[in-house]
Amino acid sequence: MDIVDFDLGSPPEWLDAWHRLDVDVSLETLTGLEPPTPSESRGELLSDFAYHRRGLAAIDGGQLVGAIAIEESMLEDLDTAYSWLLVDSAHRRRGVGTRLLDATRELLRANGRTRLDSSVLIGSPASAFATSRGARVTQIEVPNVLDVTTLDRDALRADAQPRSPYLLSTWTGSCPDDLVDAYAAAHAAMDDAPHGAETYDDAVWSAERVRGHEERWAGLGHRTLTTAAVHAPSGSVVGYTVLLLTGRPSTASQEDTGVVRAHRGHRLGLAIKSANLLALTEQEPAITTVVTWNAESNAHMLAVNDELGFRRHSRWEEVTLDLLVSH
Ligand SMILES: CC(C)(COP(=O)(O)OP(=O)(O)OC[C@H]1O[C@@H](n2cnc3c(N)ncnc32)[C@H](O)[C@@H]1OP(=O)(O)O)[C@@H](O)C(=O)NCCC(=O)NCCS
Repeated sequence: MDIVDFDLGSPPEWLDAWHRLDVDVSLETLTGLEPPTPSESRGELLSDFAYHRRGLAAIDGGQLVGAIAIEESMLEDLDTAYSWLLVDSAHRRRGVGTRLLDATRELLRANGRTRLDSSVLIGSPASAFATSRGARVTQIEVPNVLDVTTLDRDALRADAQPRSPYLLSTWTGSCPDDLVDAYAAAHAAMDDAPHGAETYDDAVWSAERVRGHEERWAGLGHRTLTTAAVHAPSGSVVGYTVLLLTGRPSTASQEDTGVVRAHRGHRLGLAIKSANLLALTEQEPAITTVVTWNAESNAHMLAVNDELGFRRHSRWEEVTLDLLVSH
């Protein structure tokens, strides 16, 4: 078995195999939910303005039997990488995962990265693997699932009316040019999301980064619906929420939701999410499920989601491996 570089230029059959592994693991761990589309799996290897993404593959007899996607943030957290490691179920417990992880450690250490993050279902083989490789659990996160067909549209309409001096703006695709600087600044709200036992840098946002993010999604054929809360007197964007449609037949993914610290406590979180869900039901009638991931300690976000009708699916561990220590 060889460990080789893996990227979007790799043989199409390897990329197909990577997607099949992604689907298998989703069916195994996120039961009842629609699995990722081919473009989502490809996206794990597609870089953009803020992230360098590539991977390593385990090749046995010409076949891809496992691979790891590695994401390195280029603008903050220069000591950290995020990874997604998958081994074909017929090839597990033969050291494939360990070899991929060891090769990743070498690669990242050469780049000055000292921390590797991932996410594993509690009680799964991946959790046992992470423990055996010396990773520590830093936070519990929960996928929450909303049955869109049960939404009370009248209640959504009422909740989507923020009090003065706030206004809402909803768009599909890229952010309007006249809002993009203010929208970029509002991303600071996400710095306050719980990070568990680890510390992370504040993210460095700019209009250029917003455009890079949007171009990556557009390049993958993904669509987005965004609602922002605008503080009318100043023109500042004080909150935003994004729904991502990746081509799953009836599922949308919730991306960021944040309200800037100075404007919390005005039910803006509920307002922006309600408005965006209303737009979803109007513009995307095929979508009947929304999936969101939240830290289990994120009481405020969970309260908003509970009010909207989201239900817990399972519990996952965020895990971090110290790359300077070999196991
Ligand atoms: C996690 C995963 C990549 C491990 O790959 P693997 O090639 O089977 O791992 P290895 O053979 O290198 O296992 C190394 C050690 O991890 C531990 N381990 C791995 N799988 C385990 C399991 N099912 N039960 C208990 N321990 C396990 C063992 O200590 C093992 O050493 P041993 O076989 O000598 O006892 C694989 O199970 C997988 O693809 N799972 C689904 C993908 C996933 O959820 N990934 C999440 C992102 S990390």
